[in-house]
Amino acid sequence: MQVVDDYRLNLGDFELVPIVIGGMGVDISTDRLAWEASRLGGVGHISDAMLTFVSDKKYKTHFTQNKFAAHREWQGRSDKAGVRFDLEEVHQAQLNHVRNTMENKSGPGAIFINIMEKLSMGDPAGTLRARLRAALDGGIDGITLSAGLHTSSLQHMADHPRFRQALIGIIVSSTRALKIFLRRAKQLSRMPDYIVVEGPLAGGHLGFGQDWKKYRLKSITADVIKFLKDEGLSIPVIPAGGIFTGSDAEEYLRGGAAAVQVATRFTVAEECGLDAAEQQHYFAATEEDVVVSTTSPTGYLIRMVASSPCLDSNVKPMCESFGYLLDSDGKCPYIEEFDATPLDDAGRKQPVRENMCLCYHFSKNNCFTCGHYVYRLKDTTTRNSDGSYRILSAEHVFRDYQFSRDHQIALPVGT
Ligand SMILES: Cc1cc2nc3c(=O)[nH]c(=O)nc-3n(C[C@H](O)[C@H](O)[C@H](O)COP(=O)(O)O)c2cc1C
Repeated sequence: MQVVDDYRLNLGDFELVPIVIGGMGVDISTDRLAWEASRLGGVGHISDAMLTFVSDKKYKTHFTQNKFAAHREWQGRSDKAGVRFDLEEVHQAQLNHVRNTMENKSGPGAIFINIMEKLSMGDPAGTLRARLRAALDGGIDGITLSAGLHTSSLQHMADHPRFRQALIGIIVSSTRALKIFLRRAKQLSRMPDYIVVEGPLAGGHLGFGQDWKKYRLKSITADVIKFLKDEGLSIPVIPAGGIFTGSDAEEYLRGGAAAVQVATRFTVAEECGLDAAEQQHYFAATEEDVVVSTTSPTGYLIRMVASSPCLDSNVKPMCESFGYLLDSDGKCPYIEEFDATPLDDAGRKQPVRENMCLCYHFSKNNCFTCGHYVYRLKDTTTRNSDGSYRILSAEHVFRDYQFSRDHQIALPVGT
């Protein structure tokens, strides 16, 4: 019987353990987590979600404060057409984070950045371009394009000196979406170096509609592999979403996948960006606690623990400081619903139910987004004497994926 470690993922000059830790915003997939993946010979991701805010926290910059100072007169207005990010600051924030991550990297593995198209930031094209180019400037090993079809992303990087040197991959949830991306890639003679196929059991935003339960990662992966073969394209395929044990992963590798992308099991690693209390929520979740919510203003479904404080909240929009989801007209569905939500008899704003303020709640880690199998995390650890679940090291989780057999999960040893 084989284990994940019997396989290798060849990408560019890298020969990798075929385990990719997926991007988790906002700074849940930290530099520390990515460093561990790289040290152990796999792939780690950082994320650029809410990058100026993350930069302020990590590197003591003042981008959020500067943005507020430049836009304070827009407070209280429904229309935020003039609320824009300074593109130079977007570039600087991304560059700082990528450079710092890459300078401190060790080991034979690789570090990629997850760049979401749907993060429209009031200027979808300009801010996406700034983020992509800064990632290349900062020396990132690879860029994983996510949350969108990315029909213009390659073009934004086409004249960059590292365009053909850095690895570039895309996350898709169907062969149809892949075909749209490949059409653009062919025009630029820049095919992706890898394709992540994300199924309906993943964490974060989902690339499926309300009928997500009809889809299976195994069949979408097989469909993508067959399509690439029929087209004569040799591009590594990396399934993601609900791959919980090393044996799950090995089954995909045996079936023709080049690696697997995993995330939920690393949310309870010490190196991940969630704080200890939030990690206990993840451990404690039961199957019934997990919901697929329609409240993300991105329009995508998002999976989370139902007790997440972001649901039914009514915080005032803070787009002057944040505004990561504003479209090019300065609109966000949360602002519209917030403005239309009446006050109760005591003069307090009633809960905003259809949309959440993703910026505010992600800044506070109030949205416990997770993969479907979050409720199995309690089976991956032991309990401390106070009854709390023991936090794991990223190395422990990584090695468990790498070496486990028979769907067994190694529990941590010692204290
Ligand atoms: C807490 C959390 C946050 C996530 N955030 C993002 C994100 O910002 N962008 C993205 O493309 N995928 C995101 N994902 C999806 C993961 O990168 C990954 O593809 C998926 O969750 C793998 O499935 P698994 O969690 O069942 O292992 C997130 C997943 C989790 C659990």
